[in-house]
Amino acid sequence: MAARMQAAAADIHAHRILILDFGAQYTQLIARRVREIGVYCEILPWDAGGAAVREFGARGIILSGGPESVTDSAPPRAPDVVFTQGVPVLGICYGMQTMAAQLGGRVAPSAHREFGYAKVRRIAPSRLLDGIVDEGGGESGLFDVWMSHGDRVEVLPPGFTAIAATGNAPLAAMANDRARFYGVQFHPEVTQTRSGAAILERFVREICGCEALWDAGNIVADAVTRVRERVGKDRVLLALSGGVDSSVVAALLHRAIGEQLVCVFVDHGLLRLGEGDQVMETFAKHFGMRVIRVDAAERFFAALGDEEDPERKRKIMGRHFIEVFEEEARRLEDIRWLAQGTIYPDVIESAGAKTDKAHVIKSHHNVGGLPERMHLPLLEPLRELFKDEVRRIGLELGLPREMVFRHPFPGPGLGVRILGRVSREAAELLRCADAIYVEELRAHDLYDRVSQAMAILLPVRSVAVMGDGRRYDWVIALRAVETVDFMTAHWSRLPYEFLDHVARRIVNEVKGISRVVYDVSGKPPATIEWE
Ligand code: XMP
Repeated sequence: MAARMQAAAADIHAHRILILDFGAQYTQLIARRVREIGVYCEILPWDAGGAAVREFGARGIILSGGPESVTDSAPPRAPDVVFTQGVPVLGICYGMQTMAAQLGGRVAPSAHREFGYAKVRRIAPSRLLDGIVDEGGGESGLFDVWMSHGDRVEVLPPGFTAIAATGNAPLAAMANDRARFYGVQFHPEVTQTRSGAAILERFVREICGCEALWDAGNIVADAVTRVRERVGKDRVLLALSGGVDSSVVAALLHRAIGEQLVCVFVDHGLLRLGEGDQVMETFAKHFGMRVIRVDAAERFFAALGDEEDPERKRKIMGRHFIEVFEEEARRLEDIRWLAQGTIYPDVIESAGAKTDKAHVIKSHHNVGGLPERMHLPLLEPLRELFKDEVRRIGLELGLPREMVFRHPFPGPGLGVRILGRVSREAAELLRCADAIYVEELRAHDLYDRVSQAMAILLPVRSVAVMGDGRRYDWVIALRAVETVDFMTAHWSRLPYEFLDHVARRIVNEVKGISRVVYDVSGKPPATIEWE
């Protein structure tokens, strides 16, 4: 049984696809689609070099789209080895164009730029498109697709045939079935291309011959084996925050190495209502993990003092977090590893193309600086997983659904949602208002429909008439956003009746709050958090 599990664990990486990234905003989406099909894949920048491509050992390669033009003087190119090692290749948009140009075809700027919906007609047989039909769609051989390109292939490389066309692009898709090279001018990775998933699946499963081994059960089995191999009998330390990533790391490491894992949970006094107890209930009681809970609220409030500047508040909290964590770590003996919940998008962001012009907006890091200070090798068992995969293995490991699908919560917690000076009293007000908001979102089935929701305590007091008297009470802002990547976001159109109900409850139940407002700002320019 163990041997079989190990064999499966080894295989899930053997059937692998390489995605060469030419800088398209959709590249991560291609990777997620391939993983959804059940096949492991990784993204490398287009200029990673031929050796890296060969070493990766892919069963198939996908060339992504990109913002450049093949007709520029020094356009990004795929390493030659992509086309010489005998594995299938699928070029998407720019990927198709560079494939055409590199294999002897010709690409020209198109007179008609195509953006958005288009209809593509199959015009010749190919292994890529034969038998694929838009689900619920009308005419066979006609596909709804999403286009976004300026250039187009004008002359096919030798050995290729045109397999699909649109009104503007007679060569909307091309194939060389013998070499197993394919190009599509449209984007199969976006949902607007109705048969996109089927086309990718056809390429990955049938043309490349990859088996669908990448599922939650196998991912867990594989990660468990690898962690055991790496750490042996060593002890591992984890900063547990109760957020999705560190919770999944905790559950995974506990499964792999049991009591060798020690978690430190720092309660900085700016957590949500009941959060500290929940973390202990889940991990210490339910899983039986060794979790050290440090009540550091006093220390954080004292350190924050009268500070009002958001960045300085963040820094103070970050510094004290590290100090508290280090103090606890010093008390423990024989710790050899520091575990961390780094996930694949963090890895991709910090390893973009060397020649990349577009800069990437760095995501926030909760415990930035901790690994450098601890002088311990890092154990990052989620390094190759996307967020949705992290969630799936969280469920597989038996974490409560509520924890796995929790909205993101910043490391400094309510500290960045109490605008201006942070105090115990302010934290208490905000904690109560936030709890009501979240409880009602869940009760009205809205929690999972928004990407992130929060209450914010504003540093202003406004007048309220209560009975016969006038009072100056604090103001709570409510925010809810919908977003895919947290880089841009729309405000959620929560029903008025719902907002009315929540506002009434907050004003009635939280003494000191008499006014509630709803934030209707999009990002950009307004960030999701207020500070
Ligand atoms: P913004 O406010 O920049 O937030 O639109 C984007 C996402 O990042 C989260 N966020 C943070 N997370 N530490 C964190 O761990 C922070 O200091 C921090 N600031 C913002 C925010 O909640 C949102 O999901």
